[in-house]
Amino acid sequence: MLSDDFKVLVHNAVGDTALADAEGLEALRVAFLGKSGHVTLQLKSLGGMDPEARKAAGAEINTLKTLITDAIIARRAALDEAALAARLSAERIDVTQPPRPEPVGAIHPLSRTMEEIAAIFGAMGFAIKDGPDIENDWNNFSALNIPAHHPARAMMDTFYLNANANARPAVLRTHTSPVQIRTMLNEQPPIRIIVPGRTFRADHDATHSPMFHQCEGLVIGEGITLGHLKGCLIDFLRAFFDNPALPVRFRASYFPFTEPSMEVDIGWNRKTGEIGGGTDWLEILGSGMVHPNVLANCGIDPRKYQGFAFGVGLERITMLKHGIADLRLFYESDVRWLRHYGFSPLSPASLHEGI
Ligand code: PHE
Repeated sequence: MLSDDFKVLVHNAVGDTALADAEGLEALRVAFLGKSGHVTLQLKSLGGMDPEARKAAGAEINTLKTLITDAIIARRAALDEAALAARLSAERIDVTQPPRPEPVGAIHPLSRTMEEIAAIFGAMGFAIKDGPDIENDWNNFSALNIPAHHPARAMMDTFYLNANANARPAVLRTHTSPVQIRTMLNEQPPIRIIVPGRTFRADHDATHSPMFHQCEGLVIGEGITLGHLKGCLIDFLRAFFDNPALPVRFRASYFPFTEPSMEVDIGWNRKTGEIGGGTDWLEILGSGMVHPNVLANCGIDPRKYQGFAFGVGLERITMLKHGIADLRLFYESDVRWLRHYGFSPLSPASLHEGI
């Protein structure tokens, strides 16, 4: 037979669980169900009983054990639930509160230019690609038909990284053109991409920054001609500068990775700065038909596929479009400048609508 003391002990403890907090509950569990807890000791005492008594006592002990175990589990669940409810109400956010009067931010003019370019070329079926700022020498130069010691390397004041560490030094990409290579190595024509992104050259004055932005364009397919290049770039420039009559001129030039190569100029008035007016020309971007060597370097058969590419400096066209005189201010994070030249986040980039 079990002692009445033990039964009373258990019944009292079950009552106590109702009052216990998490720590008290754990102490109670150890006191009854732990290694030398009351229940455990009672179970151990069964060994010394004769079989009949053991059967009766065993059943009774187990009933009491279940009683206390269930009470502890139930109380623990209730405590957890209460803790969660307390947290939920303490951490509640009142979404109906009006916002604090904070100054409204503005879209940086460069970001706006990228949005507009994406909208204009997006309407022409171009996809957007990007690539790393740190490039290898092959993607930035060699694959683009600019071999080592070629004078074209000197044209771009390159930042080299770990220059003597290995045979393929890393560079900060001097243009977005290496993404042409990355794309052609990974995709089969037809290819139609633009690549807005950061570029780097060791240059610093009112119109040059060591870090600046370009947007590359690349179209590869069967039967792509200079006519496609011209139509595409004329449409782009007229949409971007919001002037359907903008004069555009293609002027023979040289880039190692295009043949023929062309510089593209737009009409402007040097005196007033008016874009599209006057009789002066302003150089705005570089372009050309992708050189057969570049296609071959990327495993694309130049007898089957042709294409064109272009690269445009984003600071330059942004400065022209919005009359911004000094390029260095783009990166000074001066909120007064941004308030003046920035754009409302809610105003849409809608200049492609004429296309
Ligand atoms: N990568 C050239 C530059 O930075 C621009 C360019 C791109 C020219 C594509 C032709 C074709 O000056």
